[in-house]
Amino acid sequence: MFSNDNVLKPFSFNVKVPPGVIDKPDNHVHRNLSSMKGQYFDQEAYDRMLQREDTLVYEVYEKLVPEIPGELIQGLSIVHPGKVGNEYFMTKGHYHSVLGTGELYYCLQGHGYMMMETHEGEWAAEELIPNRAVYVPGRWAHRSINIGDVDLIMLFVYPAIAGHDYGTIERKSFREMVINQDGKTVILDNPRWMTQ
Ligand code: F6R
Ligand code: ZN
Repeated sequence: MFSNDNVLKPFSFNVKVPPGVIDKPDNHVHRNLSSMKGQYFDQEAYDRMLQREDTLVYEVYEKLVPEIPGELIQGLSIVHPGKVGNEYFMTKGHYHSVLGTGELYYCLQGHGYMMMETHEGEWAAEELIPNRAVYVPGRWAHRSINIGDVDLIMLFVYPAIAGHDYGTIERKSFREMVINQDGKTVILDNPRWMTQ
């Protein structure tokens, strides 16, 4: 982590897709099934899968910068293909702690959705396909979902001061979920969603 006294020099980095890596990341986060308890609709399928193996669901590579106004964190988010029951692999999802901070995602590979919602209960889903950008405005929680057969790889950029609120989604879940129903991808109301 950078402190405020660090002087940041311009830099560049290479992105390699596939497999979805960047040069010299400052951080490489691994998120396995065990860290997503309570998030998947089919709890029994989740427990069964976890008993077999603590599968790697997604990874994040980050380039860190000082957490001061004006600076931007950037990196790659890679959601692996797979399902828990009929529900596609997805990220935990979060609000930014500084609620008004937005984020830009640029899809480099794969097929998915960016699921978004606000504290006021509005929701939106944008499809992710290669070379499409999705803008997540400030105030919107966001979760990426891989509905395809290959890694969903996205470049992201967001304000370094944003911070992450995971607790709200862990408690309430998302209002909508993306599942495979009879071979088709559908967005349905999530029975696990809590209004408060
Ligand atoms: C940062 C951001 C992404 C996500 C990444 C993993 O604000 O939105 O870098 O962190 O896609 O998702 P989460 O953070 O929800 O586990
Ligand atoms: Zn974010």
